[in-house]
Amino acid sequence: MKPTVILGIESSCDDTSAAVIKDGVLLSNITATQSVHANYGGVVPELASRAHQQNIIPVVHEAIRAAGISKNEISAVAFTRGPGLLGSLLVGTSFAKGFAQALNVPLVDVNHLQAHVLAHFISEGKPNECFPEFPFLCLLVSGGNSQIILVRSYSDMQIVGQTIDDAAGEAFDKCAKVMGLPYPGGPHVDRLAKSGNSLAFVFSKPQITDYNYSFSGLKTSFLYLVRAKVKENPDFIAENLNDLCASIQLSVVDILMSKLRKAAKELNINQVALAGGVSANSALREAFNNHAEKLGWKVFIPAFAYTTDNAAMIAVTGYFKYLNNDFCTLDKAPYARVGV
Ligand code: KG4
Repeated sequence: MKPTVILGIESSCDDTSAAVIKDGVLLSNITATQSVHANYGGVVPELASRAHQQNIIPVVHEAIRAAGISKNEISAVAFTRGPGLLGSLLVGTSFAKGFAQALNVPLVDVNHLQAHVLAHFISEGKPNECFPEFPFLCLLVSGGNSQIILVRSYSDMQIVGQTIDDAAGEAFDKCAKVMGLPYPGGPHVDRLAKSGNSLAFVFSKPQITDYNYSFSGLKTSFLYLVRAKVKENPDFIAENLNDLCASIQLSVVDILMSKLRKAAKELNINQVALAGGVSANSALREAFNNHAEKLGWKVFIPAFAYTTDNAAMIAVTGYFKYLNNDFCTLDKAPYARVGV
């Protein structure tokens, strides 16, 4: 039988990525990151769209070359339809439509958040690979989302809890900004926290019901503490940088884990997965492993390459949708937010 080859394309924010999956096994995953935003303290949508325009053809070309396939072997083109930055999504969507038309193959639209969850099913074709079994819980934490998702199948997912204000990544980035660290601050906080005392400072914890999160109070509490201390000692941040990073990191991780624990207990689920850019955080990974040991959870932590935005997760989601004959018509437009 002819193999199923899916080309995945991701362009929802500031990474242009293309990947090839053959019969469920990843053959290539090429990403061009955009350094142009570093000077602005955040992603500039207009610049992101332009950089996607420059990157998309070379990135797709390289993904096909690295996979060792010819473009005529592609069975379908999967692309991120949303949520994300509209200008960025338009580049990937338009390219995917044109490429699918030129190859005369179906088009598969992919929800970016669903793809972060299904990143756990990316196979590199290695022996002893281990995938979650349904149902499982997935903690999806990124710069724009903090959600606890109950995953019943590849296509049946229910958000059981989510942030009512800032996302966990945003909390890291905003606190990092207060300390004068470059954007995105999360990885810097993680690095500096390694030689800090996580109990040096205590911040207010949110009082939120159900499995929902809130990080805006934590961010304000951090800001007020730093402001007050800097008034007393202008060198306070420099002198306490590692401790500040370790303390804010511990607070974020504690908040994330307490709701996840509650959900796992009450929903009676012991398979728990981690997804999204913040899952690169070493303290969060450690907390997952500790919970596995203490509570008997079976935990799934993705490889670093599949935590941030990448096309491998788009291709694997596209693969499952392709097997279900779940295709996208050419009149579909990208969406910036879920349901918009
Ligand atoms: O999923 P992602 O790549 O894209 C967006 O949602 O934009 O997540 C990016 C977020 C940023 O907020 C970044 O600071 C955070 O993930 N992040 C981290 C770490 N690596 C990335 N946060 C804490 N520790 C890290 N090691």
